[in-house]
Amino acid sequence: MLSIALPKGRIAKETLEKFEDAFKEKFVFMNRKLILEKAGFKFLNVRNQDVPTYVIHGAADLGVVGLDVLEEKEYDLIKLLDLKLGLCKVAFGFVKGNKVDFTKSNIKVATKHEIITKKYFEEKAMAVDIIKLYGSIELAPLVGLCDCIVDIVETGETMKENGLEVGDTIMQSSAYLIANKNSFYAKKDLIFDLKEKIQSVL
Ligand code: PRP
Repeated sequence: MLSIALPKGRIAKETLEKFEDAFKEKFVFMNRKLILEKAGFKFLNVRNQDVPTYVIHGAADLGVVGLDVLEEKEYDLIKLLDLKLGLCKVAFGFVKGNKVDFTKSNIKVATKHEIITKKYFEEKAMAVDIIKLYGSIELAPLVGLCDCIVDIVETGETMKENGLEVGDTIMQSSAYLIANKNSFYAKKDLIFDLKEKIQSVL
């Protein structure tokens, strides 16, 4: 049996569709159930940012999570496969017409991706103030909390609808299949078989 933590929402749905193609079984979470057990798999329905936590602690052998979430925390786990789902980028957002000059002092950048943003500016040897937020990032520059944001851009609709323009890209992201290190060795055959089957339907 392999347990797999899936992030709630669209990525879970798209991942389960890949499993359906690969294993010719129907995989659907019933109503509000958080566990789905079928055909040798136990799928866990967890919050996006919590996926690596379940996998690191071995509460799940495998997980599916965005590269941006992995980069943000530098977890000690194995990246098995790029599922090419949930494609998006981590990019800057500015109030339309107000592109920020990062060489100025006291520039404030609001983001959920604190580490990724910090690294970006460290590599450029630029000093900015990073303000950590947990959601609705697009709001922050509109009310003067910051000069610009760093956030996930998928279609660009959210920024556009809020009068922001998308700036430079920091990184591209997509959903990865990840594995707990102990599980990877203890259940190597099962995991390799799964990886191959999923790869064949990507
Ligand atoms: C992300 C991001 C934006 C939106 C961008 O949020 O924070 O708000 O998606 O998508 P778009 O470019 O297609 O408009 P997400 O839905 O991942 O929710 P979260 O803030 O709870 O992580």
